[in-house]
Amino acid sequence: MDDLSGKVAVVTGSTKGIGRAIVEAVAARGGSAVVSSRTESEVREVAAELDARHPGRVIGIPCDVRERSACQALVEGAVAELGGVDILVNNAGLGRFAKLQEMDPADWEIQLRTNLDGVFHCSQAVIEPMRARGGGWILNIGSLAGRNAFSGGAAYNASKFGLLGMSEAMMLDLRHEGIRVSCIMPGSVNTHFFDGGPDPDDDWKLQSDDIARVVMDLLAFPERALPSRIEIRPTQPPRK
Ligand SMILES: NC(=O)c1ccc[n+]([C@@H]2O[C@H](COP(=O)([O-])OP(=O)(O)OC[C@H]3O[C@@H](n4cnc5c(N)ncnc54)[C@H](OP(=O)(O)O)[C@@H]3O)[C@@H](O)[C@H]2O)c1
Repeated sequence: MDDLSGKVAVVTGSTKGIGRAIVEAVAARGGSAVVSSRTESEVREVAAELDARHPGRVIGIPCDVRERSACQALVEGAVAELGGVDILVNNAGLGRFAKLQEMDPADWEIQLRTNLDGVFHCSQAVIEPMRARGGGWILNIGSLAGRNAFSGGAAYNASKFGLLGMSEAMMLDLRHEGIRVSCIMPGSVNTHFFDGGPDPDDDWKLQSDDIARVVMDLLAFPERALPSRIEIRPTQPPRK
């Protein structure tokens, strides 16, 4: 979509990687957006930088999506400062990979609470504000790991398989209220998700901007159309 003026997007986990690229794409098209993550200093810094660089207004509100009250405050802050919420991108997520027999229960818990509970809390929080605007769009950032299991991925696979099912149920729950729900399922993206951060040698991977482009393309669909599950993968990953 080329013009998002008048629209407001809340993007969780958006100080880095995919979330940051989505905020940047919204603001570049004149929309308003909320940058958010657990790290308050980065939230303030990134919001100020993107606000200065783009025509759309960008504000920062820290939020750990594991905390229901913080998700509520995130949405209330967007409504108070920006006038409403039209788009929620449930992007905050992390992966901690270990075989089941070696997995730390804390790693299990943080993935399920961030990648699933956070989506539940933020999505419930935006329903009333979206109703007030006559509709909206909830975009869940899933993963191809929500379709393909791998050794060492029990917790991450559980969270992303779960998110796919949850997204489709949410879509059925909310479609008649004019609230569309989509699950975008990327393959490998060159972000901070993996240890050490983005690697210039990983030029075969998707870039965060590729996922932001999918989001912008989705937003351009007419109201009657709802692409509910989108897979995107690198064209030429290393041959196995
Ligand atoms: N990179 C990939 O290959 C890939 C592929 C498929 C899907 N995905 C999905 O894409 C999404 C974004 O990942 P990314 O690759 O962009 O990762 P990233 O570069 O590591 O960025 C993750 C963002 O989420 C924030 N975050 C982490 N835990 C949070 C929490 N509890 N509450 C709020 N924010 C939190 C981080 O900031 P703080 O740590 O400061 O909170 C950061 O801003 C995730 O859902 C991931 O599962 C990634």
